[in-house]
Amino acid sequence: METKFWQVSAVNPDLNIIKKAATIIREGGLVAFPTETVYGLGADGFNPEAVKNIFVAKGRPNDNPLIIHIAEDKEIFRLARQADKDPRVSQLISRFWPGPLTLVLAKQKTVPDEVTAGLDTVAIRMPQHPVALALIKACGAPLAAPSANRSGYPSPTTGQHVYADLGGRIEAILESGPTGVGVESTVLDLSTDAPVILRPGGVTREALVTVLGNVYLDPGLSDPRQTPKAPGMKYKHYSPHAEVILVQGARARVAAKIKELTFQYSAQGKKVGLLLTRETWSNLGAGTESLPAFYRRDLGSAWRLEEIAQVIYSELRNCDLHGVEVILTETYQTEGIGAALMNRLLKSAGQQVIKA
Ligand code: TXA
Ligand code: MG
Repeated sequence: METKFWQVSAVNPDLNIIKKAATIIREGGLVAFPTETVYGLGADGFNPEAVKNIFVAKGRPNDNPLIIHIAEDKEIFRLARQADKDPRVSQLISRFWPGPLTLVLAKQKTVPDEVTAGLDTVAIRMPQHPVALALIKACGAPLAAPSANRSGYPSPTTGQHVYADLGGRIEAILESGPTGVGVESTVLDLSTDAPVILRPGGVTREALVTVLGNVYLDPGLSDPRQTPKAPGMKYKHYSPHAEVILVQGARARVAAKIKELTFQYSAQGKKVGLLLTRETWSNLGAGTESLPAFYRRDLGSAWRLEEIAQVIYSELRNCDLHGVEVILTETYQTEGIGAALMNRLLKSAGQQVIKA
């Protein structure tokens, strides 16, 4: 099929285009759209056939449930039977919605099994992007939407990324430029007494703690012997075609190790890409130009991890576009957004870290 590619203002979306996109979704088609985190691939959440097509288009494993996206608070009651009885829900949504927080709650029977992969819980979020909100409202139905990438590849942060992955496989793409957060929403499980982060993301654990007191991290995120509770977290993920190598240690040692590895891989005939912080570049000092690297990027300062999170997926994709075979990059503090950034980088590196 031919995929329509429609440019839409992120600030003031053209309602004619939104209506055309909504018609496609109401007729059972798939439309990719921007959110504040990454681009999503939307289908009518109450149309099981359309939802099934999401899995086909992405090549997504069938046991991996989808997030339902809503545009009004009250929609949550139609989807989650727990929502009206649990005071944590209203506290969290008044503080963080619209925004990058997904809540996992006991589901209502009406939510199709295709959305939840047969689980008795449902993941729900209200995105903070004018195009996403306008689209959901125009559809008059909640949208089931995973990230709009081919399964396993880094999530898309522009419409062009979506086109590269899903062009010819979906009906339309709404393109509104780069997304703001750059990594996905935080998935928070409230289906048990203790709130557990199943996937770190745009809303930090520190921010959740201010509302909930204790917030736990799913042990399956860091312990390879335990299965993560979010099915999507158990797969190899966020991986470019190039091998990703993470180097960890004190700044000067990291710089020295990166230099050593660049020469080593390039001597093996491999094309090296360097995705480094400003601080590491300045530690490398004079002579960086003579490093035998094929692609090099300053990701920004290690003191501003929000900015690195914004560009990381796009830079992993750029390495592939430039034919890079080995990406050398570094580790970060796991405070704030750093938890999400490191979770994604560790997965894209197959959990391997080289100590400098
Ligand atoms: O920022 C985001 O969350 C983006 C944008 C498009 O909204 N969406 C996104 O969806 O990242 P996806 O499908 O790529 O990731 C959803 C994650 C997966 O790890 C999935 O296993 C988990 O949420 N999930 C969904 N429903 C769940 C449930 N009922 N219980 C546990 N985990 C669930
Ligand atoms: Mg995804």
